[in-house]
Amino acid sequence: MKDRRIQIFDTTLRDGEQVPGSKLNTEQKVFIATHLEELGVDVIEAGFPISSPGDFEAVKEITKVIKNSTVCGLTRAVEEDIKVAADALTLCKRPRIHTGIGTSDHHINFKLKSTREKVKERAFKAVQYAKTFVEDVEFYAEDAGRTEDQYLAEICELAIKAGATVLNIPDTTGYCLPEQFGAKIKYLMENVKGIENAIISTHCHNDLGLATANSIAGIVNGAQQIECTINGIGERAGNTSLEEVVMIMKQHKELALSTGIVTNKLYKTSRLVSEMMRMPVQPNKAIVGSNAFAHSSGIHQDGVIKNRSTYEIIDPEEVGVEKSTIVLTARSGRAALKYRLSQLAFNVSTSELDIAYHHFLEMADDKKTIDNNDLVKIMEICKKEAV
Ligand code: KIV
Ligand code: ZN
Repeated sequence: MKDRRIQIFDTTLRDGEQVPGSKLNTEQKVFIATHLEELGVDVIEAGFPISSPGDFEAVKEITKVIKNSTVCGLTRAVEEDIKVAADALTLCKRPRIHTGIGTSDHHINFKLKSTREKVKERAFKAVQYAKTFVEDVEFYAEDAGRTEDQYLAEICELAIKAGATVLNIPDTTGYCLPEQFGAKIKYLMENVKGIENAIISTHCHNDLGLATANSIAGIVNGAQQIECTINGIGERAGNTSLEEVVMIMKQHKELALSTGIVTNKLYKTSRLVSEMMRMPVQPNKAIVGSNAFAHSSGIHQDGVIKNRSTYEIIDPEEVGVEKSTIVLTARSGRAALKYRLSQLAFNVSTSELDIAYHHFLEMADDKKTIDNNDLVKIMEICKKEAV
């Protein structure tokens, strides 16, 4: 059976760029967008055109250089927003308008101060209006994670009737458990009339650290698109991390899912976004963190030296990391020291290794990590002692 192809919708330049201190100028946004296209993302959410003249300009400039990916502009369910987004997308080869409204009672009662019926009406009209500008219209039901399933199904049905091609089901507050989010998508797949005319998208936030798990639960239950960002950046605790969901689908062949992502560009893209948006990547970040392929404990190092697969489930080259590293610390064993010495062309006997290891431990207790210069020094000490 052929793998089911999942669409990757990247919102680094919209939801990701909402992070305080991460503001980009147009030139930087265009640069990142071209890298996202090279990475193979299906949709680039380029911005929220009505939010500022700068965002309008950036979306417009991005549409001039992007050839293959769909370029998407966000709007509220407000005519003026939709018109401005359509203007920003006029030169686009594959334009998409992403419009929507809050659907949970929290949003309807407190934010919109409206009623469920009126919100349904606004959703229908917004999609219908967006459809007068572009063929590809995505509808988002903000806070769908906390929206009652039956009402959510009703509003999705209306959005499809109005012409929506994609139904975005955001877990805006990152509240859902994977089982709950998966069940919500399943419910929509089974209860929304006309669902065969649209695809469902996940858009999960990471407030409880569940964004990746929830996105995968959504996909397994029938969603066809994942909204995510490079390094998982985004509002508050961030969005689903692109590199994580892509590598989960690649590693777990039994899911029979695929994406168009060129995975050996993941690391490079992660660093680029981190530097340009001034958002350091935590060292233990899955897939792209600096420690993701670094082994430091003696037992692990011994295992990896014997066979990489004992402690690594991904070949680092698959994500664009040259090779895994053996970091020498006071927790390292003789096997790791011997291995690193051999890389420097010091091929030591067992007794020589014992002596070198003794000096190594003394030095490692003082320093956090031992680098190649330190190893050369250790071997010089050993040589002096031997004469
Ligand atoms: O988190 C959210 O609900 C959003 C929507 C605007 C799509 O970002
Ligand atoms: Zn969001």
